Formats: sequence, structure tokens, C-alpha cells
Amino acid sequence: MRMYDLIMKKRNGGILSKEEIEYMIAEYAAGRIPDYQMSAMMMAIYFRGMNAQETVALTMAMAHSGDRMDLSAIAGTKVDKHSTGGVGDKTSIALTPMVAACGVKIAKMSGRGLGHTGGTIDKLESFAGFTTGITAEHFVRQVNEIGVSIMGQTADIAPADKKLYALRDVTATVDNMSLIASSIMSKKLASGADAIVLDVKTGSGAFMKEEEDSFALAREMVTLGNMAGRKTIAVISDMDQPLGCAVGNALEVEEAIATLRGEGPEDFTKLCMTLGTYMLLAGGAAADEEDAAKKLQRVIEDGSALKKLARFVQAQGGDAKAVYDTTLLPKASVAEEITSIQDGYVAKIDCDEIGICSLMLGGGRETKDSVIDLSVGLLLHKKVGDYVAAGESLATVYANDSKKLAEVKERFLKAYHFKAQPVLPAQLIKGVVQA
Ligand code: URA
Repeated sequence: MRMYDLIMKKRNGGILSKEEIEYMIAEYAAGRIPDYQMSAMMMAIYFRGMNAQETVALTMAMAHSGDRMDLSAIAGTKVDKHSTGGVGDKTSIALTPMVAACGVKIAKMSGRGLGHTGGTIDKLESFAGFTTGITAEHFVRQVNEIGVSIMGQTADIAPADKKLYALRDVTATVDNMSLIASSIMSKKLASGADAIVLDVKTGSGAFMKEEEDSFALAREMVTLGNMAGRKTIAVISDMDQPLGCAVGNALEVEEAIATLRGEGPEDFTKLCMTLGTYMLLAGGAAADEEDAAKKLQRVIEDGSALKKLARFVQAQGGDAKAVYDTTLLPKASVAEEITSIQDGYVAKIDCDEIGICSLMLGGGRETKDSVIDLSVGLLLHKKVGDYVAAGESLATVYANDSKKLAEVKERFLKAYHFKAQPVLPAQLIKGVVQA
């Protein structure tokens, strides 16, 4: 087989066989196919697409390109959760202890963020000493003992995807549905959980800006998961404005903690309850949706979800005192209000722009080697549908650099759009896709 022939075949609209895809992935992972040929193939796939069989073959080839986690030493159904990502998405930090407090085992592998704000791992590092660099033995033991662990994705999990995703990131070939679905699912399948609940975002702050495309991506991932024998469910949720109010690592952790105390923002709480419901159902810990919702509500009210977060943080070396005293989380030196220059109802918030504001403050990575400032970010006081009077605060900015603060204030104001008439915010949960 020659890579040149495969590129030509796909370029001309042909369908790659399972053997051809396996050859291409194995040879690329081994360094015997150069990046320039793989880039050409990714661009050919970007324009020509892949059918269902090709997508399954690509997913399985990448899932089998490295180690696969063996979670057989953990009794019961192990449930994983994955979000396609967005601005202010701190869901895993509140949701995983909630679900674990209801008796479902959470064995989750996470990555760091590339753009905007940090990923789940970065956010969790707001707890001094917290590490996700734990061994597989520690991971399994912790899930058995306290019901939840989040481990950093090792280089040996789906290494072909790691290499390919980095290549796609710099060759404008990320946003192809089959490539996204196979990339995410290859890692989830290699991570070993029995059931996977996906949070597929839609809107201006998501990969998929159109609802129709988000549903199509969700269907593709659910099919891939179920075909591989994992119970897979996808919730499609709004990312047309930031989730909750906090954007920035330690600020998001603080909001997740408030949510576990029953004091979180309405949209974020609702998303945790919805995803939690499907995780409880997938894990066999609830009879139906109503039962699941009751159980999740109970662990918030009786404090057991918060206690679970403290145990989880402590088990991974973090300062669990910060769960009960958030003044111990990283704090920025300056906090300033951004006031509205006009009256009106908030009609739209450019979600990506708010993410960029956090990035500019130092809360995200400009390059993969950037060091994140965990303390900076924004706390939004007004969201879509809210009325604002001129001079009222739209948000508080937390910064450590006055020049960056001034730039962010200017950019932030351009991200808010107003209307004179009342505006209805978009529905948070757009739908659910399951087999
Ligand atoms: N996240 C991934 O892991 N891969 C993609 O291709 C897109 C988002």
C-alpha cells in the first residue's frame, strides 16, 4: 500500500477500506508517513467526507493505536463524561462528585485546554497541590474507594489521535464532523469506561455553531460508542452564551463549589442535573428520570456531593480546605467592574469573544507551552434576556496586569449586544440522542 494512492483515492471521492485506514494510522503513528502526506489526506477528508464504515474504522484504528485502560478491577458500571467544550464549562468539577455521591463510579480521563480558558485539569489545579498525574493503579484504587477520579490523559492513550489532532489544529482541518467524532470517541473508547455521557455543545462558543450540525455530531458519536459496546448518550446543550457566570479557572471552580452548595447559577445547575440524570441512568443508580433528579437534588441538599468533592480533591493531593473556604483558591490582584454604556435587554453575547477576553488576561493558553494564570477571568452579572441600565455593571474582571485589563474591558463591551424590547434566552437543553 502507498499513502500517495490513498490520498489520490480520497481526493477523487473514493471510499477508503478498513485495511487502508488501519495501514494509514499505524504507519503515521510509527512516523513512517510524513506530516505533509497526512495533512493532504486530512484536507481530502475535510472536503470529501467519510461514510459511516470509514469513520468506525478510523475511530477503532486510533483507539487501538496505544494502551487501553483496564478498569476491570472496579466493580459495577464505570461511567465517563465528555464535553465538546465551551466558554465557562466547569461541568465536570460539580457533576462528577454529584454523580459519585449517588453511587455511580466515575473513572474519567481529561485533557488540558488549548484555547480560551483551561481544560478540566487546569481548573482542578486551582486546588493547591492537586494532580491528575496519577498512576493507573492509583486511579483504579481511588475509584474503588471514593467513587471518583479524574486522571490526566497519558501519551499512551490513542497516541495516533494525539498526533493527528495536533496536525489538524494547524492545518485548518479540525471542524469536520467525522474527524471530530472519531477523535473524541477513540480516546473515550481507549479510556475503558462502560458508559459514556456526552455533552455536545451548540452555538457561537461551540465547534458546531448550528444546532443541526451538533445533532449530527451527537448521532455520529452515539453510534460509534454503541457499536463499540459502550452505552452512549448525548445531550445537546446551548453554548451561544457562556455557561453560568464564571469564566476563568479558579473562578469556575468557585462557581462549581457554589453549585454543590445549591447556590449555583440556574443554567449551570440545570445542565448538571440533566447530564447527572443520564449518568445515573447509565450507571444503573436510578429507576427513571424523576428518581435520578430526586437523588441528585438530595446529595446537594444533604452536603454529600460537596463532601465527595473534598475527598476527591484530597485523594489527588489537593488542598481540600479550599472546598469549604474558597478564599484559599488563587486570587487576582485587581478586580474592576465593566459598566454598560447603554440601556437595554442583553440580546446576544459573542461567546468566543468572552473566552478570548479570559485568554488575554492569561487564563488560557496562547501556545501549548503557555503557563496559565489560574486566578484571572470574568464574572458575568448580566446574561441574555437580562435588562441593563447604563452605568450598571455587566461583569467584574479579575486581572494581574493593568494593560491587559484595559484591553479586555474594551473588547468585552463589543461582545455584548442590546435590544430595546425584551429578549427570550435560548433554550439550554436542545435535545438528547441515544440509541
Ligand atoms: N476534541 C477532540 O478531542 N478532537 C477533535 O477533533 C475536536 C475536539
